Amino acid sequence: CGIVGYAGARPALGIVLDGLRRLEYRGYDSAGVAVVCGEELLTEKKAGKLANLEKVLAERASADPTGCRAAGIGDGTTGIGHTRWATHGGPTDRNAHPHLSPDNGVAVIHNGIIENFAKLRTELENDGVTFTSDTDTECAAHLLAAALAELRAAGEPDGPALLAAAMRAVCQRLEGAFTLLAVDARVPGAVVGARRNSPLVVGRGDGENYLASDVAAFIEHTREAVELGQDQIVLITPDSIEITDFDGRPASGKDFHIDWDSSAAEKGGYDWFMLKEIEEQPQAVADTLLGRLTETGEIMLDEVRLSDQDLRDVDKIFIVACGTAYHSGLVAKYAIEHWTRIPCEVELASEFRYRDPVLDRSTLIVVISQSGETMDTLMALRHAKEQKARVLAICNTNGSTIPRESDAVLYTHGGPEIAVASTKAFLTQLVACYLIGLHLAQVRGVKFADEVAAVVDQLHQMPGKLRELLGRIEPVRELARDLKAEPTVLFIGRHVGYPVALEGALKLKELAYMHAEGFAAGELKHGPIALIDKGTPVICIVPSPVGRGMLHDKVVSNIQEVRARGARTIVIAEEGDHAVVPYADHLIYVPRTPTLLAPLVTTVPLQVLAAEIAAARGHDVDQPRNLAKSVTVE
Ligand code: G6P
Repeated sequence: CGIVGYAGARPALGIVLDGLRRLEYRGYDSAGVAVVCGEELLTEKKAGKLANLEKVLAERASADPTGCRAAGIGDGTTGIGHTRWATHGGPTDRNAHPHLSPDNGVAVIHNGIIENFAKLRTELENDGVTFTSDTDTECAAHLLAAALAELRAAGEPDGPALLAAAMRAVCQRLEGAFTLLAVDARVPGAVVGARRNSPLVVGRGDGENYLASDVAAFIEHTREAVELGQDQIVLITPDSIEITDFDGRPASGKDFHIDWDSSAAEKGGYDWFMLKEIEEQPQAVADTLLGRLTETGEIMLDEVRLSDQDLRDVDKIFIVACGTAYHSGLVAKYAIEHWTRIPCEVELASEFRYRDPVLDRSTLIVVISQSGETMDTLMALRHAKEQKARVLAICNTNGSTIPRESDAVLYTHGGPEIAVASTKAFLTQLVACYLIGLHLAQVRGVKFADEVAAVVDQLHQMPGKLRELLGRIEPVRELARDLKAEPTVLFIGRHVGYPVALEGALKLKELAYMHAEGFAAGELKHGPIALIDKGTPVICIVPSPVGRGMLHDKVVSNIQEVRARGARTIVIAEEGDHAVVPYADHLIYVPRTPTLLAPLVTTVPLQVLAAEIAAARGHDVDQPRNLAKSVTVE
């Protein structure tokens, strides 16, 4: 979910809505706002995308264009807003946030899951509270109202400090993961936030301050931010930011400067963020490579809280991630094992800790996450650390939770990725995985500076190759229009082409809502080949014939097998590979690339294909149904 809070001198509503628009990628099932206006709390919430909420607000504005309600909901200067990805309770108006206390005095928004909510709800209901939604969040609103009433009854004066004290009392009672923001009509000019596991950052303005799940929400207004730690309460007013722990002891956040500007998070003339982000890939790859080699030819990570000896002691590697990041891990396994000769397994983060993996001090866990906040990945990381394993993170979001809790970090410099379906983050994750493989090989003395420099040189050629590929991608768009009505699309590949097939199929599922599956090409004959009917499109990822001829020839045989059974073959092969021509109904050539690095180019046509098919089917390319970009619940 996306969360925004504002305390300042300007009308809060517009600022909160702008922030929500930039956070909508975090969830878009429903949206809501609450603004403190005089001594009143004005709220509105609506199921569906943010546009639905904006429409209702506009109607309110024209119905009541006077006084405090001039902007439809008021010109109050303190407000909070939420865009939801449903967990407890379906995406309806009544389940949308904010949730209010019965007297409408307090409004609360929440990201995460309150795990003991059933117990809390029963307790509150026994005390006579009536619930108006099915959400876990509503408990927090009632608890906060009760805590405020109790403090007031004990003679505590009204004011921001009271709100913070009440929020602390609520947090003591909650289990699970949460970011909460709250406002109280009787405490104008203050927003209180609480953070356990789910993300929350502070934006430091001039006479105004912000709270948000991600800096994108306030980047237009300020680039100065404060990172919060776990289990902290933050209270903002127009001119103060106060941080404490859950027991009320003063705590401090970490100040940081945001080094990208707001235009990086805008569409810049493209119809969809995804298309813009696909085009940004050459730059994202170049930026991720920038300055990684020292003068003596060593690969540099960003933050290293591990010694070289620790890395030399590694006897097993697990790569742990979700979704597209997991696919980058599957590619990394081939490179890392090949270069380092250390056994390497790739695991879905959501499965990892539940199967009780064998871990110890000499296990290296590589966690990969664009957002750095994915709860499944974070929990896998914590489990690994409890077992004393070392953790190295690949992440695109500076200062997010996953890199902060890891022993070493390599940041991908992809810039903000807004479209829910990951593109440039995937390519930069691949680059980061290659660099980590090379770094490990170097530290362990398996690869030497000149060999590493040779691979890095090949990597440096990738931005140029990607530009060339994107420059002649038009036929893929045409193919997309041709495929848009297909019921099923299959993808096959071997070696690193297999994870590319999985990623191609995932993209199509996510965006086009089509049945799509990726298979190891050699496995096809053991079952999935039965799916092939006359005309079934099969997208075949062909490895380079150079160096690994046998691998290439095997895939070409697999293409013939599917074609013999009626498949329509769409072949992605390296330029100059004439062997595939007789078996390809459609041929997409990609620039020549060494096999291990080939996913950097072979993935790109699949991204374009999925985005274009989705657009041709009339879908929202950036915000596919049921998904969210950053999933901060397990
Ligand atoms: C969500 C997104 C996917 C993404 C995955 C992992 O499911 O919809 O696109 O790959 O999370 O996200 P992360 O931020 O950890 O890379």
